[in-house]
Amino acid sequence: MADRKITGIVACVFDAYGTLFDVHSAVEACRTEIGPDATALSDLWRAKQVQYSWLRNLMNEYAPFWQVTGDALDFALDQVNLTDPNLREKLMSLYLNLACYQEVPTVLQSLKASGLKTAILSNGSREMLSSAVTHSKIEHYLDAVMSVDEVEVFKVDPKVYRLATARFSCKPEEICFMSSNGWDAWAAAHFGFKVVWVNRSKQSREQLPGKPTAEIRTLRELPSLLDITL
Ligand code: LAC
Repeated sequence: MADRKITGIVACVFDAYGTLFDVHSAVEACRTEIGPDATALSDLWRAKQVQYSWLRNLMNEYAPFWQVTGDALDFALDQVNLTDPNLREKLMSLYLNLACYQEVPTVLQSLKASGLKTAILSNGSREMLSSAVTHSKIEHYLDAVMSVDEVEVFKVDPKVYRLATARFSCKPEEICFMSSNGWDAWAAAHFGFKVVWVNRSKQSREQLPGKPTAEIRTLRELPSLLDITL
């Protein structure tokens, strides 16, 4: 994937979970308590959360991402035979205050200073997003926090990506969208956004319609792609 400079955009729109916020930071905070299955639990929790969002779309059974996240955690805890209800409660409450990746505040600040609009577009429910944003103290660097709660369907339904073009009254190609989730990156590119795939965990490329414009390892590389000095 050629890392071309990205021009002609009005807004930088970010996926939340996995892109700005580290979804594994919740389990990480209880690693000792959980023991040897901690990594498996965290991976399965995330995988099920995403899978349930797709399945609920197909079943026409929207539920806020908070519920989906809890359902996925119940599945994952059961799978690794962890039954302590206090642990469930603790992990859910940690999920409301996930850590952001360390480069996030500086990068958002420099994008805003350059005159670009900045926003989050996420499956997360309003309360979850608001809590994560406040916890990371990045609210001042964001023009909008868009939740799928507005359309009651999850990514990759085009209605979700349309929230961003409606919010900024612009064409899809005037939005630069960042996601670390390959499936989200490919679907957003298929929708027409210019997409920067933040491939934090060295995943293989998706074999799906859509083609990200660029691939980076962390958001630190984003400003230079947009010709902005960090
Ligand atoms: C989100 C999930 C997909 O934030 O990471 O929308």
